[in-house]
Amino acid sequence: MPLPKSIQAEAAELRQALNEHNHRYYVLDAPAITDQAYDRLFRRLQQLEQEYAELASADSPTQRIGSEPASHFESVAHEVAMLSLDNAFDEEEMLAFDRRLRDKLDHAAPLAYCAEPKLDGLAVSLLYEAGELKRAATRGDGRSGENITANVRTVASIALRLLGSDLPERIEVRGEVYMELAGFEALNRKQQETGGKVFANPRNAAAGSLRLLDSRITASRPLSFCSYGIGLIEGAVLPPGQYLQMQYLRAIGLPISRQIELLDSIDDCLDYYRRILDQRDKLAFDIDGVVFKLDDSRLQRQAGFVSRAPRWAIAYKFPAQEVMTRLLDVDFQVGRTGALTPVARLEPVAVGGVMVSNATLHNMDEIERKDIRIGDIVIVRRAGDVIPEVVAPVLQQRDGDLPRPQMPLRCPVCDSEVLQQPGQSAFRCIGGLVCAAQRKEAIKHFASRKAMDIEGLGDKLVEQMVEQNLIESVADLYHLPLEQVAGLDRMADKSARNLLDSLRQSKQTTLARFIFALGIREVGESTAESLAAYFGELDALMDADVESLQRVEDVGPVVAENIRHFFDQENNRAIVEKLIDAGINWPLIEASQQAQTLEGKTYVISGTLEGYSRDQAASLLKARGARVSGSVSAKTTAVITGENPGSKVAKAETLGVEILGQSEFEALIGEDS
Ligand code: IVH
Repeated sequence: MPLPKSIQAEAAELRQALNEHNHRYYVLDAPAITDQAYDRLFRRLQQLEQEYAELASADSPTQRIGSEPASHFESVAHEVAMLSLDNAFDEEEMLAFDRRLRDKLDHAAPLAYCAEPKLDGLAVSLLYEAGELKRAATRGDGRSGENITANVRTVASIALRLLGSDLPERIEVRGEVYMELAGFEALNRKQQETGGKVFANPRNAAAGSLRLLDSRITASRPLSFCSYGIGLIEGAVLPPGQYLQMQYLRAIGLPISRQIELLDSIDDCLDYYRRILDQRDKLAFDIDGVVFKLDDSRLQRQAGFVSRAPRWAIAYKFPAQEVMTRLLDVDFQVGRTGALTPVARLEPVAVGGVMVSNATLHNMDEIERKDIRIGDIVIVRRAGDVIPEVVAPVLQQRDGDLPRPQMPLRCPVCDSEVLQQPGQSAFRCIGGLVCAAQRKEAIKHFASRKAMDIEGLGDKLVEQMVEQNLIESVADLYHLPLEQVAGLDRMADKSARNLLDSLRQSKQTTLARFIFALGIREVGESTAESLAAYFGELDALMDADVESLQRVEDVGPVVAENIRHFFDQENNRAIVEKLIDAGINWPLIEASQQAQTLEGKTYVISGTLEGYSRDQAASLLKARGARVSGSVSAKTTAVITGENPGSKVAKAETLGVEILGQSEFEALIGEDS
């Protein structure tokens, strides 16, 4: 069937719309339509292209799915060489770099620099001709690299077609292909499940994904791109400085760094370095430093190159996030449910600017898979706010036959037996609450925010209390004498009083929170909520048999067994009874059934409300999603006042915070009718 004009026009319109939406999404961070609306346009274009073969076009936004595998990569010469960068490791070296440059240029005044983070990925060069992506290459030796066009075409943030009408005849865009941390972790999980290669870090994962001969696999990898330079340019005049050139790339549809800045002097560069270092752990991707480039293109040309690096640019490196050190020993940590986790004891080493002497080894299967031995030199990684981990041994440096870590037969804390349950990979100490380690973890869990929410009862405090035999179980928390608490390390009279106060407050809770707080194996927050909703009262749950437990949503045979087992133990029943005797009760409607009408709001209560103790009033607000705070600040939504309010009212007035009375409080909690 001949291609009707109207279809051709529709396809052209769809392509243009999809390109613009891609640009808004990947480059401008300002999407204009929902993902669903985008998918509808995309599918319509796919449908037209399937129906009319004449519509085929390599730069259609549908062409990112990869193609038949190649047998090898062709070599391609770069039009303009791809250079590398000199490094600086401290302020001294940065100041020396700036001084050398000003001497060379005979420039006394401060120089302006364009700054951006140094991404940890793989350099690529993209050649666009008349706006169309024609070729993509790796850096290689700087003069020629490998042709990886088929793979690069699958990277969603790389425009297959540039935007605008006045495009250069040819332009070589340089930038980094990298993988965000979340995508990297998801990829490794998938690789592990399917028995594929697990990558040591996002950089290796990005490089490995770009160098696959089958671009259909590359298409499934979560790769991103960020531009940082221009090689060849023909048929257009570039702005006269690095910063404006990057804005130009952004305007024609290529992503640039969100953190890019134009700085007035080397002092501002040092400040920029500190700011980015501060943000490092919060970024969605790994960076290994910042790059400063002399902004003025004319001065860049004047400064020239030394060997293969420009004199006008420098990478100021951050402390390494991956380092090597010796694995001295492997200890085993006992968790709340008795599971033993291997922990690496390391020769102390700085990773990401922090001294590290312990790192997780995850579990015995991981140790086996990675073939880690005691005495090995290992690679330790600490990225973002995740805990340090041992990535791999350095096999080339292993001397002779080193011992493999062994799971101990007895608990290192309480000497009870360690057993592996059939069908489970975890090894567990069978000591239960006899084991001090399990006791500590059980109490930490009980106090945690989603359980009893005991403010001020941190991990260190729990450990001290158990070690000094102030508490045997969670039930003893509610009978702690003030003097004993005040006598603990880093506690004063005031903080001790506050802790007893929050313990008292925590007694008003919900049944679901209480069930969750007990720490029954595999009973998480949502299962606890289902159990509370189904049984309605604690006695019914404690006496339920395995069959009736399984009628509850999300409760299968294993969880039902765990619950039954928990309540069959005499000591657990005794603890529950003591807790109830101490005054724990659940006057509140379950959070899941209570509409969260006050979510995001923060209240302060001052004075006595009629018919509600302060704790009750606070609980009612919290059950509706509000936060209740002890002091007034600009972030306070309102102060709720009863009889004899204190100085908080005056503070609220000066800050312009709203002040509510008894009836307005009752309206908030929905009890005014
Ligand atoms: S500029 C002439 N800017 O670092 C300047 N490079 O160590 C050439 N890199 O091969 C590079 N982020 O792979 C530049 N914002 C950035 C960068 C960056 C990462 C990489 C790039 C380069 C290597 C040099």
